[in-house]
Amino acid sequence: MRGLFVTGTGTGVGKTVLAAALMLRLRGRTPLRYSKPIQTGIEQDDDTEEVRRLARCPVEEILEDGVRLRGPVSPHLAARRAGITVDLRSLQERMTSFAGVWIVEGAGGLLVPVSGSRTMADLIKLLGLPVVIAAASGLGTINHTLLTLEALRARALRIAGVVMIGEPDADNREAVEHYGKIGVLGEMPRFDPLTPETLADWAVANLDPQDRLREFLA
Ligand SMILES: Nc1ncnc2c1ncn2[C@@H]1O[C@H](COP(=O)(O)OP(=O)(O)O)[C@@H](O)[C@H]1O
Ligand SMILES: [Mg+2]
Repeated sequence: MRGLFVTGTGTGVGKTVLAAALMLRLRGRTPLRYSKPIQTGIEQDDDTEEVRRLARCPVEEILEDGVRLRGPVSPHLAARRAGITVDLRSLQERMTSFAGVWIVEGAGGLLVPVSGSRTMADLIKLLGLPVVIAAASGLGTINHTLLTLEALRARALRIAGVVMIGEPDADNREAVEHYGKIGVLGEMPRFDPLTPETLADWAVANLDPQDRLREFLA
């Protein structure tokens, strides 16, 4: 599989908005498809619909299929309450037929449990995709981002870069790059309002302006 897996330093950090921004940034050079393989809290959150709205995705850019669970809780708990077991292999199999570039969004952060001893990191390993980390820009992000990088490296998962979300903070960016030995691909401000237009304008001009993602998508 080709593409990027969008994880975050936590939940609510901006993975969905970043996934939409990546669609907007990469559109046109290759066929794209977004997938949210595991969505919890489906009665209140539908990241697939949000990406479709923000990136104005045509039907062929969206994989509808995936595990959809009620309750805004961790996948392992939502699955247990629903009496099902999430099978990572079958999620992967649904994604093998498309040869373009996938933008896959995780649920929560990297070590969120999915079922048994399996976590989001195991799904990433199975899919074999390089990871883009959505991180907050403000206080606390250095620790959260370095922990995520360390956990990715401990599992030999490829890291494409970090995107910082919120009020740009040059000191935090520099610290993440220096201590994390990783490139920051962009600093996404808070959009008010957040619309397809404001996001597209930013993504085209400011998300990975140096085209560092290219090598990960070859
Ligand atoms: N750059 C941004 N500007 C404005 N609102 C944002 C931005 N990034 C995220 N948000 C908002 O913050 C909330 C959490 O973002 P989301 O992308 O859903 O996080 P995650 O997918 O990591 O849970 C959402 O309401 C989203 O619209
Ligand atoms: Mg999300």
